[in-house]
Amino acid sequence: MTTYNLLLLPGDGIGVETIAEVERIVDFFNKAGKVKFATETDLVGGAAYDKHGVAITDAAMDKAQKADAVIFGAVGGPKWDGVPYAVRPEAGLLRLRKDLGLFANLRPAICYPALADASSLKRELVEGLDIMIVRELTGGVYFGEPKEIVTLESGEKRAVDTQVYTTSEIERIAKVAFDLARRRGNKVHSAEKRNVMRTGVLWNEVVTATHKSYAPDVKLEHILADNCAMQLVRNPKQFDVIVTDNLFGDVLSDEAAMATGSLGMLPSASLGAPDAKTGKRKALYEPVHGSAPDIAGKGLANPIATIASFGMALRYSFDMGEEADLLDKAIASVLAAGLRTGDIMQPGMNKVGTAEMGSAILEQLRKLA
Ligand code: NAI
Ligand code: MG
Repeated sequence: MTTYNLLLLPGDGIGVETIAEVERIVDFFNKAGKVKFATETDLVGGAAYDKHGVAITDAAMDKAQKADAVIFGAVGGPKWDGVPYAVRPEAGLLRLRKDLGLFANLRPAICYPALADASSLKRELVEGLDIMIVRELTGGVYFGEPKEIVTLESGEKRAVDTQVYTTSEIERIAKVAFDLARRRGNKVHSAEKRNVMRTGVLWNEVVTATHKSYAPDVKLEHILADNCAMQLVRNPKQFDVIVTDNLFGDVLSDEAAMATGSLGMLPSASLGAPDAKTGKRKALYEPVHGSAPDIAGKGLANPIATIASFGMALRYSFDMGEEADLLDKAIASVLAAGLRTGDIMQPGMNKVGTAEMGSAILEQLRKLA
């Protein structure tokens, strides 16, 4: 039987509570007996700082390097507001992203039918929505040099950020998007601003060239990023996969997220390059939300974002698409049955806590399996 190594990094606040629910789901799949998940747990963020004085230890990083997937909760909170910049809780996540070379950020926007009325868009626009935004995560204007604020002779200040992309950076993210599209709806929109940015021109060229080995089964359309933003609220179901740069991806993925109702519902994945020998990618899965200090420790957090992040691990790291579908179905039926954590509560529904939501999903899994 294949054994997969999972590193669980609960972190701080509700990360601890939502990862506990993931552990129960992992247990379920272990008992199902198709593969074995060997799990290890370590500290990250404020929890690691309190014990070791750093946001993640070298030993934990080593485990992350060796793991087949990392499942991350959340980090941070007011308790660590005053800690030095280099060891602040977020530094743990940034080091993981950097050292694992996680350049592709996958942000699905899925609207479960039961939650379509919680969306900020009309039900008919979002019911059954399932799109995937693929954001380039390690290049672009957030990292390009020069990056500075200088004082001019006039006394005025001048701030500069630089958008930089190379052919190889664009090609590898485009491949991730086309590979994903092949497992989904076979359609990729590539969003840039070639009309005003040189990086947009190169982006367009490289994505077009990369597409050649995926045509004709995967369709490619180029779309200007501002138009993409409009189309996402006008008619989001026209999209399957959207691939875009770091900055546009940051904005477009948050925009698309609103279609789904709540932060507590949003999973994500970050992938690295495939290993030359094994073809395996380094991968980290995490909810989009943070540590939610306002509700932490009270058993109120919605565990679905973190559970669905494990679902993405099943799909993208372990090639267990059937099991991932099963988990999605279990989540959908629990929502259809009216169970709601506080963040997605609607009139007439049945309010539950973190563990009750986890138990209900487990029970559905057992029924559907
Ligand atoms: P947040 O996502 O933690 O919370 C925003 C609001 O959404 C809060 O009212 C919270 O109660 C609610 N919320 C979030 N997730 C929820 C869930 N699963 N169930 C129910 N309600 C949920 O963002 P915020 O408040 O801006 O940041 C809090 C802390 O988390 C900060 O220290 C921040 O730096 C950190 N953070 C960490 C992230 C990470 O670890 N990747 C991402 C974002 C923030
Ligand atoms: Mg953002």
